[in-house]
Amino acid sequence: MEFLVQVRDLSYQYEDGTKALDGVHFYLFPGETVALFGANGSGKTTFVSHLNGLLQGQGQIDVCGMRVAKDTLAAVRSKVGMVFQDSDEQLFMPTVLEDVAFGPLNLGMSRVDAVVKATWALREVGMEHALDKAPYHLSAGEKKRVALAGVLAMNPEILVLDEPTTYLDPPGRRNLVELLQRLPQTKLIVTHDVQFALALASRAVFFENGKAIADGGVEEIVRRFDWNVSYSGLRVNAHPNAIRSGSSEQRRVRSLPD
Ligand SMILES: Nc1ncnc2c1ncn2[C@@H]1O[C@H](COP(=O)(O)OP(=O)(O)OP(=O)(O)O)[C@@H](O)[C@H]1O
Ligand SMILES: [Mg+2]
Repeated sequence: MEFLVQVRDLSYQYEDGTKALDGVHFYLFPGETVALFGANGSGKTTFVSHLNGLLQGQGQIDVCGMRVAKDTLAAVRSKVGMVFQDSDEQLFMPTVLEDVAFGPLNLGMSRVDAVVKATWALREVGMEHALDKAPYHLSAGEKKRVALAGVLAMNPEILVLDEPTTYLDPPGRRNLVELLQRLPQTKLIVTHDVQFALALASRAVFFENGKAIADGGVEEIVRRFDWNVSYSGLRVNAHPNAIRSGSSEQRRVRSLPD
């Protein structure tokens, strides 16, 4: 089968000299969902920023049969929909509806069609009630949802989501899993949320020091790198006074007059 995304020997150094990527090899098959794991600072965001040409390092990237380069950038960006880690980098129009309709309009859709598409996308992420709100007035989780709607409205072939569950409440996370399971796109999901990855991805890639050092089943990678959060076995750190005489809250309640 043909790769939908193929990355060969990708390296990138920021202006201050930080070597964020150091010879990354990576591939994505059509239709698969892959989780990208790795410690803070291991290069995940830097890596995905190359997939639609936001950053341009040394190496080769092919997306949907196109080599990512200056002359293919517009075409590549119509194929790769990116939900950024920081929603504030993504939302810039005065209202939510205009923000989500911006992409489809930019792709040449009529105003009416763009609004229909944007309204559909906002409904999918549970934000249709906020059409007229200013994006900068939204809560962090709401911004995430609107940013995702903006990407869905453009109907890309590949969805790249950088920490999509950050700020989402538990029902929001569940809804996002259901939504992503329903969407036919090929997906690359950068996440620290192992349960989220297990629910969605069939494969995981592990980043360390700017390299993709492992690739395998999600459970296998989680086990191999001890990547699950488990608090069991950690002691509850109760204040000694709380143990002796109850918490200050309890004391206050007890001392209230009848
Ligand atoms: N604009 C920048 N200038 C200089 N260094 C940067 C810049 N952006 C990121 N870095 C550095 O590049 C390295 C990789 O950062 P990156 O944001 O890709 O990590 P990450 O794996 O996405 O981390 P996290 O899990 O915290 O999101 C880090 O050492 C970071 O400090
Ligand atoms: Mg990151």
